[in-house]
Amino acid sequence: MKNVFAALVLLPFLMAPALAQGAADAAAGKTLWEGNNAFCKNCHGRNGEGAFGPDLAGRGLSAAQFQQAVRKPWGVMPSFTTEQVSDAELAGMAAYFATLPKTGELGAWRVPLATDAPHGQQVYVSAGCAQCHGATFDMPRASFGGRKGDFALMKDLVYNHTTAMPKMEPTRPGTRLRMGNFDPLRLSESQMKEIYDWAHDDLGFRPALQARLVPGEGAATYALNLANGGEKGKGLVASGLVIDVIVPAGITVTGATGDGYKGVHTDAKGATVAEWQVARLAPTDARDFSITLSQAPANIADLKGTVRWAKPAPRTGPNMDVVNFAARPAAPAR
Ligand code: HEC
Ligand code: HEC
Repeated sequence: MKNVFAALVLLPFLMAPALAQGAADAAAGKTLWEGNNAFCKNCHGRNGEGAFGPDLAGRGLSAAQFQQAVRKPWGVMPSFTTEQVSDAELAGMAAYFATLPKTGELGAWRVPLATDAPHGQQVYVSAGCAQCHGATFDMPRASFGGRKGDFALMKDLVYNHTTAMPKMEPTRPGTRLRMGNFDPLRLSESQMKEIYDWAHDDLGFRPALQARLVPGEGAATYALNLANGGEKGKGLVASGLVIDVIVPAGITVTGATGDGYKGVHTDAKGATVAEWQVARLAPTDARDFSITLSQAPANIADLKGTVRWAKPAPRTGPNMDVVNFAARPAAPAR
């Protein structure tokens, strides 16, 4: 009797740590799900309401079911390693979704499947790639355009992503790879070839252009660096480049430097735009420009711009290729 009493009295205390831990895990699961370290939400919806992938909210899936689905996916979903998302983190996600109500309606795909799209693009969208890489596969097309990436490289980067990617590019400390490994049994080599051919032949690869806009010398002055990050002798040369910096409303341009400055004009939306033109930018080439404004924008990221180029251009269809950039605070000194 005494023991039973002791057990009953102790029970809440014995359970407390476990419950507290469970609650913390659900919170951590929510943070990881919504943050920038995992891109699961691109397919399953920001609140697990389902989109390209099934709904997860309120379905009562267990930690074990999460692990099974993520380590050995049933279908086209890529698998994720324990370095990308640990078992404890998956348990946290399962706990988090258990706290949410069931969703009524599935969300829309981030990038829908257009039935009149070129065949290769349809394969690309139905494999799930577009939910993270957008309709036109911009980031890999630029990286492949910068190094003459071939089909063998593409296969390696998609089927063996978590080992192939760090060989090509060191992962930044504190970040994780966000793409998983696709299974050749679910996404066949011939499907992958169709994706590659579409990206290489129809759209074409992109030059590996990078634009960086940061505070420069003096108040309300910003330095813009445009570089072709491609490998010498391998990467694509960009020609006919137009660089636009779009100035927030109520602010004027009081000065600008850099070769090819064309002055200020008003765009179709009525915004003030400072423009530079560059005839040609080969791999490893870079240009520096600067712009001085009548005052600093309240939010630095409101100062934005685009880089477009005439060539290389898609073989068919309109040229939608663009590099978007926004001003960022200068990197803190290390
Ligand atoms: C490319 C889109 C995509 C991404 C990214 C993705 N999933 Fe999925 N997920 C799916 C699809 C589609 C399914 C259905 C089974 C399949 O195709 O593998 C699925 C199934 C699941 C299931 C099983 C659902 C059920 O009804 O049993 C879980 C759990 C899950 N995913 C969790 C995750 C987690 C966690 C991540 C991130 C680490 C993730 N998914 C990333 C597309 C995706
Ligand atoms: C969950 C989001 C996601 C999905 C789905 C996804 N990717 Fe990725 N992919 C990324 C991210 C993010 C990177 C950058 C490396 C990283 O964080 O894993 C990347 C990198 C790549 C790279 C290497 C890029 C480079 O720098 O050379 C290739 C190639 C690639 N993806 C192709 C594909 C293809 C093809 C598919 C579909 C079969 C696909 N990806 C599906 C997010 C995704």
